[in-house]
Amino acid sequence: MWGAPLSENAKSIMLLGSGELGKEVIIEAQRLGVRTIAVDRYEHAPAMGVAHECYVIDMLDGAALRALIERIRPDVIVPEVEAIATDMLLELEQEGFFVVPTATATRLTMDREGIRRLASEKLGLPTARYGFANSLEELKQIALSIGFPCVIKPLMSSSGKGQSVCRSEHELEACWNMALEGARAKKMRVIVEAFVPFTSEITLLTVRSISGTTFCAPIGHIQQDGDYVESWQPHPLSQAQLAEAQQMATAITDELGGYGLFGVELFVTDNGIVFSEVSPRPHDTGMVTMVTQDLSEFALHVRAILGFPIPSVTLLTAGASATLKAGQEGVHFQIGGLDEALAIPRTQVRVFGKPLCKPGRRMAVALSAAETIDEARNRAKAAANLLKVVWSNE
Ligand SMILES: Nc1ncnc2c1ncn2[C@@H]1O[C@H](COP(=O)(O)OP(=O)(O)OP(=O)(O)O)[C@@H](O)[C@H]1O
Ligand SMILES: [Mg+2]
Repeated sequence: MWGAPLSENAKSIMLLGSGELGKEVIIEAQRLGVRTIAVDRYEHAPAMGVAHECYVIDMLDGAALRALIERIRPDVIVPEVEAIATDMLLELEQEGFFVVPTATATRLTMDREGIRRLASEKLGLPTARYGFANSLEELKQIALSIGFPCVIKPLMSSSGKGQSVCRSEHELEACWNMALEGARAKKMRVIVEAFVPFTSEITLLTVRSISGTTFCAPIGHIQQDGDYVESWQPHPLSQAQLAEAQQMATAITDELGGYGLFGVELFVTDNGIVFSEVSPRPHDTGMVTMVTQDLSEFALHVRAILGFPIPSVTLLTAGASATLKAGQEGVHFQIGGLDEALAIPRTQVRVFGKPLCKPGRRMAVALSAAETIDEARNRAKAAANLLKVVWSNE
């Protein structure tokens, strides 16, 4: 399942999805001399500002995707979001195109059903109890058998869109409607999960490269409304917890195969580690690695997919990240407060350069290093609080 490494033969990378994570992937690829092509469904996406070439297409439209890939013929296709016509990627892979980490992995992780069934039913990893529903009626049956509270999510969505915690039977209809509004696909299908009473949640960044499987130190994070607001590294775990987490990450990433970095999301509970989901690409909570590690998650992803060695990953310091989110919609704005935020020691800021603010949309992140995790978290939160969206008419 490892696939052929590319090494020096890879001259161009096409990124499907050009957000803030893709922007860092592009920068890292350029550092190794690779031509970069950014694709997204809207103009002026963050990674487009740094790529050699960019294209705007509907990535869920298989024909449009094929036409662009056949025209450009990139050496490597790097999916950066889930909303892609992954069936077309499977076809293109069969025809000899190189999809990272593999087209099957992209297909399986694009919707919650594929990856959940693989993790739980094939690999036997512990997960929350779950079921799937195609209608409000089915949702009622499943929720009653799973019990309350339960979490209801559209099969295809990210950043918590359409997701809700349902506390009683009375709330089911509202949750169903919320899922339908947040769903990316028109498919009327949701996953219902038992609510996991976790003590913390972590991302275990796992890299599969020509050097084998390597792990980054666990990253702890806090989510609000299903979207991350704060992360830190390292997140303290016992030896036994770490071993369990790494075992699960190895099982799922071996199964997905290919080269690249994976974000394995896990819940830490009093009864052990519970698998949540996995991204076959850099993870938003992993932006903290830009200040904590010698090789960030983006550098690791690029090295791995190009077939270069990764002999080691070193955690240099404790660090944390905290996000700035927009409060309202609009295009005439700037990100302000950098003077104050950058006055905080060992703190950096990444302004993503998104052309449009929307309520809850992530616009920038503050990254801080410190002697201790607590100090790093305090710094990053203080810096993020100083950042603000400044409207031109203010
Ligand atoms: N079964 C559950 N029990 C408790 N909390 C949950 C459960 N499922 C999800 N959550 C909470 O909601 C967050 C987002 O859920 P999940 O990762 O499944 O969705 P997502 O939309 O893919 O998010 P992202 O794309 O940002 O990772 C989780 O990180 C966790 O905090
Ligand atoms: Mg998640």
